[in-house]
Amino acid sequence: MATTGQERIIQPRVSDIRKILDKQSNGASSLLAVLEDIQHQYRFLPRDALIMVSERIPVPLSRVYSVATFYNAFSLKPRGRHCFQVCTGTACHVRGATLVINRLETLLGIETGETSDDLEYTLETVNCLGACALGPIVVTEQGYDGMMTISKVDKLMRRVHSLGSENADAGKPAQVDAAATDTAPPA
Ligand code: FES
Repeated sequence: MATTGQERIIQPRVSDIRKILDKQSNGASSLLAVLEDIQHQYRFLPRDALIMVSERIPVPLSRVYSVATFYNAFSLKPRGRHCFQVCTGTACHVRGATLVINRLETLLGIETGETSDDLEYTLETVNCLGACALGPIVVTEQGYDGMMTISKVDKLMRRVHSLGSENADAGKPAQVDAAATDTAPPA
């Protein structure tokens, strides 16, 4: 798998991953907690970090990837500081999720599934969130926004953007020196 430019920008520090692993020392049963800590620190799970986890815990790398790809809270690709998730379940789709997605793509300058080059924004779709009567729904770090329209998307963008300016450095991922959860984990 090729390394993207964004992955090159955000490389895990060996010492940081060691610290996380030292904190969680219950062998294979700590795998989930370790991955959560790494995701929290980098906003994604860098490949080199997963290899370190596999060797240190130890568990097969295939098992690490199996868990990392099972939970929606984890990402194998860098995510932006602000993540927009649009529900594309049937009810939200019927109520105009596509218009919402199109508007977000225009405002963010990225396609669905992409992260902006400056690592500010990510746009994703998610399956039914269980609140269909409120569709279409957009999820951000500020929570759920329901019954979205194009003008509501514009307002949401302004809200998220102003929050971003207040906390410009707070959410930056660790730099180089160099989690909607499903019901059961994979076997
Ligand atoms: S389809 Fe979007 S919440 Fe159910």
